[in-house]
Amino acid sequence: MSPLIKDASVQSVAQAANLADIVSQYTTLRKRGNTYLGLCPFHQEKTPSFSVSVDKGLYYCFGCGEGGDVFQFLRKMENLSFTEAVESLAQRYGVGLEYEEGSGPDEMRRNRDQRLFALLEKAAGFYHRYLWQSSEGDRAREYLQKRGLERSVCDQYQVGLAPSGWRGLMGRARIQGFSERELEAAGLIIVRDGRAYDRFRSRLMFPLVDHRGRVVGFGGRSLGDEMPKYVNSPEGPVYQKSRLLYGLHQARKAIAVADEILVVEGYTDVLSSTQSGVGNVVASMGTALTEQQLVLMTRFTSNITFMFDADRAGAEAAMRSGGLARRQGLRPMVVMLPAGSDPADVVVEGPPGALRGLVDAKISLLKYEVTRVLDRPDISTAEGRIAAFETVRRILRASVSPKEREEEIRAIADRLQLTPENVGLLLREGRGGAAGAWSRGKTKTAGSVAGSASSGYVSRVTAPVHAVERRFLVALTKFSDAAGDLLPGLTDEHFTDPIHREVFQSLHASQQRGESVAEAVARLATGGGETGRMSAGLLIEGENEVYTRALLQHDYLRLQEQHVDRVVTELRARLEEEDVDEETERKLYRLELLQHEVRQMLADVEEG
Ligand code: UTP
Ligand code: MN
Repeated sequence: MSPLIKDASVQSVAQAANLADIVSQYTTLRKRGNTYLGLCPFHQEKTPSFSVSVDKGLYYCFGCGEGGDVFQFLRKMENLSFTEAVESLAQRYGVGLEYEEGSGPDEMRRNRDQRLFALLEKAAGFYHRYLWQSSEGDRAREYLQKRGLERSVCDQYQVGLAPSGWRGLMGRARIQGFSERELEAAGLIIVRDGRAYDRFRSRLMFPLVDHRGRVVGFGGRSLGDEMPKYVNSPEGPVYQKSRLLYGLHQARKAIAVADEILVVEGYTDVLSSTQSGVGNVVASMGTALTEQQLVLMTRFTSNITFMFDADRAGAEAAMRSGGLARRQGLRPMVVMLPAGSDPADVVVEGPPGALRGLVDAKISLLKYEVTRVLDRPDISTAEGRIAAFETVRRILRASVSPKEREEEIRAIADRLQLTPENVGLLLREGRGGAAGAWSRGKTKTAGSVAGSASSGYVSRVTAPVHAVERRFLVALTKFSDAAGDLLPGLTDEHFTDPIHREVFQSLHASQQRGESVAEAVARLATGGGETGRMSAGLLIEGENEVYTRALLQHDYLRLQEQHVDRVVTELRARLEEEDVDEETERKLYRLELLQHEVRQMLADVEEG
């Protein structure tokens, strides 16, 4: 059950948080009047259309339509739940949170976890400094250089070094007030026969950071050929291996931009890939991807691409993880690397841009599987082709996209010299329910596809009819005292855009309750969803001087005009089809008078 934070606590956090501060971590803001302006962190643009109103605590992008309050911003930016967003801001601004009775993780556990996170964070800082400042660090820095890893990428992932002594870390942590039990729970020391010592010694340290940016453990690589190659943190209260994707926190922005996650096997693959400019990369930490890791990824994008080592284990991992991804309704892709190499090798050994080129040449999992079969050496013999035919049939049966399947069949028929009957057999191979599973998956993940909702939104606001509706709503939130005069003259039918209509209905209802229009829109703006985004936009746009009382009056009349025009057009069309009905004809006559009147008023307003 997700913990429920008390409303009063949420309010305190909202008050303590400074939206411009938070946004500045993702984009550069420039002050302009009462608002800040910058490049939108949610979509790519060259001229700034992202604005932040500190007074109102709201942001809005005029390019992509994203908008909301500080919680919405963090949720969207960091893919957090509402609770996670509130908790992370509370921590940042030092606000204590109260939870609803019985809903939160209990107090003691929360405090314990907070201590462990603090300890792990300090440990990461300690290892990192030790790498760059100690004389023992010389050898490790040489090692990094030999592997082509530069300082900047090592800093980005906070790579460190564990000292060679038995109690380097423990000693320091004890002085800072952490107990042996806490060090053990954090996986940093080993206690055996009553004696405690550091788990990680003389190892290159890769902090494992969860998607909320907290250090939860470490992977420690030996600096030579000592075995084991890696010592990893054991699972514990704050670290569950199956739920962690190495590098996800650092990659989230690149993932949002690319709308894709590349999954590699190892820590060093993540670093090398990022260094070479391919930053949307995470490591499964070993070969097999878990279901939980996959679900976590789909919170960020539904485009998953595997870039595992080009060896047998990597190929098997791609197919097993790929099967898992298909069951989630995804259509995974695979990057083919030169035989025997991993992404880090490609970066170090290949020419600049080599990895990018391979990534761009990625193929579907289905094609990958089929290619593996067709590339077998025994394909030149008749028996080899028969065996391959059976394997290929099994592969096609598991595939989910009919279009993709048909594309592959051509290649297969060619390579295996198939008869038309056998091609027919292959064509019938797809699972009956497979197409359904694919489209189900698609709708489930559609919400996470960045930009799909907003692009529809943009085309709506640019349509002139909707533009007037929107302008009216903006001006009305600015001059909310005019609502009493104007709102009663409008109905749902005056708004053709469903979101505009929804906002209007809310305003109408709140006005009848005696609440001001500005308050009502502010409340909508913090509610998330498309209505929330739109409302944030209305409020922020209202700061622009072009919105005057005269424009509000004008747009009110335009709304009336548009509405009358629609009704008149509809009635005329009906009269042409049906027999003349006197009642309808009279109605039309009255409406045409009204239409004339509204146009006259509009002309007057436009002249004056
Ligand atoms: P690799 O053996 O491919 O290591 O394991 P690597 O990260 O590419 O290291 P280099 O490039 O040889 O230095 C891939 C991943 O599997 C996990 C680690 O997460 C590693 O990054 N692994 C591997 C372990 O946890 N323990 C091991 O002993 C080996
Ligand atoms: Mn490797």
